Amino acid sequence: MMQGNRYLEENEHTLRMKLQNIVVGRDKELEAIKMQFDHVLEGQSALTIVAGDIGIGKTALVKTALADLSKLNGTCVYGKFEQYKDEEPYIAIIQIIENIANHMLTLPEEKLDRIRKTLIKELGKDAALIIDIVPQTERIIGKLSKIKLNDYQKLKIRLEKSLQIFIKFAAKELYPLILFIDDLQWVDKPSWDIIKSINDTLSELELYIILAYRNNLEDYRTRMQFMQNELTNNVHRVEIELGDIFYRYYNSTFIELQKYNFKRR
Ligand SMILES: Nc1ncnc2c1ncn2[C@@H]1O[C@H](COP(=O)(O)OP(=O)(O)OP(=O)(O)O)[C@@H](O)[C@H]1O
Ligand SMILES: [Mg+2]
Repeated sequence: MMQGNRYLEENEHTLRMKLQNIVVGRDKELEAIKMQFDHVLEGQSALTIVAGDIGIGKTALVKTALADLSKLNGTCVYGKFEQYKDEEPYIAIIQIIENIANHMLTLPEEKLDRIRKTLIKELGKDAALIIDIVPQTERIIGKLSKIKLNDYQKLKIRLEKSLQIFIKFAAKELYPLILFIDDLQWVDKPSWDIIKSINDTLSELELYIILAYRNNLEDYRTRMQFMQNELTNNVHRVEIELGDIFYRYYNSTFIELQKYNFKRR
């Protein structure tokens, strides 16, 4: 009896895991997200922005696309912003850097060694600023002495510059790299400055950025519209607004039924 229950539970778990990667009724959107990746394979950059209501399926859609793209050798990294975390900036950026570091740590020792040397050369002693906010990176960069600086504004500028260098470097080393930044409606200002600065240099990179945000509140819509307008560059850009799938299903079923009735008459 116990055994049987466990069997059922395990199967249910596997099934649930499988279902997590299935989205229904979003074929066109999935295709659009995946097609953008082709530009990166051709040596360019791409930006995809997904918007929609709470729970409409933004995260599920992008994660499903990413599962397919990782089969095509894409390196996918994920970070999401949180509500009411203004006092803790860079949440999603830290996750992204952590993810990148984990990917780098799987590389062969020789390559990792080269990465370490290049990073130290490009970042200088400011590499310590990255280690400070993402301790995981110490395993790549190595131990460095802490930077003592009381001027917050100067520190912020140097940190931003370093994070930007790190991500640009990762785009080269982990090519083809895909950054998925979720729940952008809760982005903090310092993080947005970083996302913007990476976006500004996208045309010199080979990188795929996917952004997703909720647009259910006027407040979010206004903020996101303003921010989207700041993302000016001429990379391949696709904007997707997710609507209700049930309505679309209902509609197409209705049309099918009409055709069927028409034939019968
Ligand atoms: N097209 C779909 N097919 C199957 N399941 C879906 C689909 N869209 C969403 N879901 C399921 O609905 C739930 C909510 O989806 P998801 O978390 O992706 O929404 P979201 O738009 O990211 O919401 P939020 O605004 O809260 O971040 C999840 O359990 C997800 O698996
Ligand atoms: Mg989501």
